[in-house]
Amino acid sequence: MELPGGRLPNGRTRRGEPVKNAFDRLHRLYDPFMRLTGFYADETIIRLLRPEPHERFIDVGGGTGWIARHIAQHGPSVTVLDISLGMLSHVDGPSGVRAVCGDGRRMGIRSGVFDGAVLSDALHHIPETEWLLGEVARVLRPGGRLLMHDFERTSRWVRLLQTLESRLVEKVRYSSMDELGPWLRAAGFDHGETVRTRLAFFTVWRKDGRRATTEEN
Ligand SMILES: C[S@@+](CC[C@H](N)C(=O)[O-])C[C@H]1O[C@@H](n2cnc3c(N)ncnc32)[C@H](O)[C@@H]1O
Repeated sequence: MELPGGRLPNGRTRRGEPVKNAFDRLHRLYDPFMRLTGFYADETIIRLLRPEPHERFIDVGGGTGWIARHIAQHGPSVTVLDISLGMLSHVDGPSGVRAVCGDGRRMGIRSGVFDGAVLSDALHHIPETEWLLGEVARVLRPGGRLLMHDFERTSRWVRLLQTLESRLVEKVRYSSMDELGPWLRAAGFDHGETVRTRLAFFTVWRKDGRRATTEEN
């Protein structure tokens, strides 16, 4: 299946060429920028996610693998799935972290294989949120959990950020927790815990244990 921009789910065109996104231009600056601004929120993510050593996680839109590295330090294996080969070229660190080039909306990964999923600072970059959440639910086992972290659209500062980011990086759209709730429930998630900061949210959802795992889209 072809995605917008002539991109296949593995981040390449039909001719096998990598399709570049904004992060393929910016990837060398990404970690220094995030560290300088203190935007990485690995401590809160790990506190809410409570990773166990035997578990398997997927970090969707996981970029350079910063969050994955911190999760893996607690023992689990983590797959960093990202559409940008440039971002993935920075993935390294403890064994158990692996990089996969792919689209979060159609991962090409077997159903029900992960205990947990992370979407950190990535949701606003991936259009068709309902489709994305359905795909994340599909790759989680029943009872598996999803942690999402992003800026909250209802803040006017975040709407200003959206305008700037759409001009300087790529077209983005931030979501609000209120609009995500129905989409998450429709995808088969039950609400766990939400922590809000002034501009952002961290929210954990659990895939309904009774819902049958669907086959790959
Ligand atoms: C702002 S970065 C976030 C990286 C990392 N999650 C973090 O916490 O810093 C957004 C990432 O989403 C990736 N991305 C954008 N669209 C995507 C898609 N359709 N599927 C997978 N990754 C995507 C980008 O390539 C980029 O690495």
